[in-house]
Amino acid sequence: MVFNRRAHFEEAENTPSNPNLQQPIGKIIERRYSRRGFLKGAGYGGLGVAAIGAMNPLTAAIASESDTLDRFAFEEIAHGVDTTHHVAEGYNADILIRWGDPLFAEAPTFDPHDQSADAQERQFGYNNDYVGFVPLEGRFDHGLLVVNHEYTNEELMFPGLPGPLDAHDFSGMTREMVEIEQAAHGVSVVEVKREAGRWHYIQDGRHNRRITPRSTEIALSGPVAGHDRVQTDADPEGRTVIGTLNNCAGGTTPWGTILTCEENFHGYFLGDAESHPEKDKLERYGVPGHSYAWGDFDRRFDISREPNEPNRFGWVVEIDPMDPQSTPVKRTALGRFKHEGAANMLTEDGRLVVYMGDDQRFDYVYKFVSRDVVNRADPAANRDLLDHGTLYVARFHDDGTVDWLPLEHGQGPLTEENGFASQADVLIDTRQAADALGATPMDRPEDVEGNPATGDVYVMLTNNDERTESQVDAVNPREDNTFGHIIEIITDGSHTATQNRWEVLVQCGNPADGDVGAMWNPATSDDGWFAAPDNCAVDARGRLWVTTDQGSNWPKSGTADGVWALETEGERRGTGKMFFRVPVGAEMCGPCFTPDDTAFFVAVQHPAADGIEAFEGHDGRSSFENPATRWPDFHGGMPPRPSIVSITRQGGGTVG
Ligand code: FEO
Ligand code: CA
Ligand code: CA
Repeated sequence: MVFNRRAHFEEAENTPSNPNLQQPIGKIIERRYSRRGFLKGAGYGGLGVAAIGAMNPLTAAIASESDTLDRFAFEEIAHGVDTTHHVAEGYNADILIRWGDPLFAEAPTFDPHDQSADAQERQFGYNNDYVGFVPLEGRFDHGLLVVNHEYTNEELMFPGLPGPLDAHDFSGMTREMVEIEQAAHGVSVVEVKREAGRWHYIQDGRHNRRITPRSTEIALSGPVAGHDRVQTDADPEGRTVIGTLNNCAGGTTPWGTILTCEENFHGYFLGDAESHPEKDKLERYGVPGHSYAWGDFDRRFDISREPNEPNRFGWVVEIDPMDPQSTPVKRTALGRFKHEGAANMLTEDGRLVVYMGDDQRFDYVYKFVSRDVVNRADPAANRDLLDHGTLYVARFHDDGTVDWLPLEHGQGPLTEENGFASQADVLIDTRQAADALGATPMDRPEDVEGNPATGDVYVMLTNNDERTESQVDAVNPREDNTFGHIIEIITDGSHTATQNRWEVLVQCGNPADGDVGAMWNPATSDDGWFAAPDNCAVDARGRLWVTTDQGSNWPKSGTADGVWALETEGERRGTGKMFFRVPVGAEMCGPCFTPDDTAFFVAVQHPAADGIEAFEGHDGRSSFENPATRWPDFHGGMPPRPSIVSITRQGGGTVG
């Protein structure tokens, strides 16, 4: 069977490991879609007044202005699939940096036929996902981009491979290729600047940095640091891990550091689970995932040889981009799971709340609330802020409320008799602890983002086509949920509350197809609906932008992935509008605005990969050099390259 890396991750995200699904959930008598008029299908009349009761004056003004007006001024683009990207008229969409571009003065120019791990460590990595912007000297036209490099597609990176490799047959992979893959993972920090209206990157910017799972020392901190279960031969103290991997989405803290999230870490491990000392714990996390050959050449990734290494991944990592010499830190108080993103908001009393999704079918939504108040005057004073606080998991009720359940050792079922001997156990086995508390299994929680203007929190639930009719509940209202949905957690300004309210914002998919069960504002055009929401951003005006990752399912919608603006308030709440489209086979990641909305950075991940066999003129999966299946725009021997695109308004001004 032909193995495909991306499909393998989709399968991992899609395969439920949650044992609570075996328990009866009960018949849902009355499905609750929304108090804002979804059931009538008659638009969004009767704006939820309670929801805007806590708005600040800016938002109240926007809401009243937007009761009837389209708040997005751009002209919508069309659904479609081709080999290039498209942006709304009147905007420039420029490739800012691509896989292999040199980051340092002495770094070699990218040559895909002459790659080395050392060169890759000095170049921009592969499959860019999260993008964070950090202003330099308070400027919005000059700053640092911090970019995650989530994973690698070796068949598109290396000449000489026949195509995607089988999960258990990595013949063709050499030690050097594995090291290049490791060097292409992780994070890049790169200085960027706008000059004469266009953004470019600075090759030898003094903050430029690569962080990789091949070479970068990362500290473990918080309750798990030093614990027996994170000690290894190479690190008997259990306090220093080499690297971070599968960095998916992330977040930016109020003190200017970046949180990068380790997602599908299970895929990098090989070895025998049967003889593993924590055999009963591995399955809930899908370890070993056998997606990569790394364990054949690097003993850390063979669980038979280094059984505790998987416990050292699956964390949120904090990076200080302003200091290239700083040691990144794995913040274990935020729990260990397949972290998608980390949305930062300030609580009503000045502490930090981080909202997070665990991206797998039937997994959970979390929030972390810091113990201490954020010191906004002195960034250094927040150095240990993420080591102390309470992690909560969400239990959604059909009456429109959500309870936040604390994952605290000694409380409720989280006791030694149940296998949790300490808070370190609760955090290493976060999923099992959340299972024990009765959290609500969701339709793959991807990105979560807060809206500072309203206090609302948006949760992207990308899809779950394994949810059966008996598993349907109000917050996951469709069986066989192929197209995903978005929910809104209404905090009424309280991020520390242990109960909030929630509503469905949209149910994705084609509203013209009655079998899909989509729900959009009727003002949504034929191009304004989308499928598989993945990442999102809230701009400076409090408006939501959503990017999609349909994977190989794009033929079902008939459009490539892209960016859509989505109205969240007023008469047009639930109206989507298409702004940008990626080349075929890519997914859209990293939406990131500068603080003044004059630039919008997006990440084009794995062009030519997902579902490419369904693209006209293609005979099968793309590979680096097979003429029958290679990228249609393959020229000069250059394979398709993941890239960051900067979007600006022609002639200047704000985006959207
Ligand atoms: Fe890396 Fe769940 O996307
Ligand atoms: Ca994602
Ligand atoms: Ca994705």
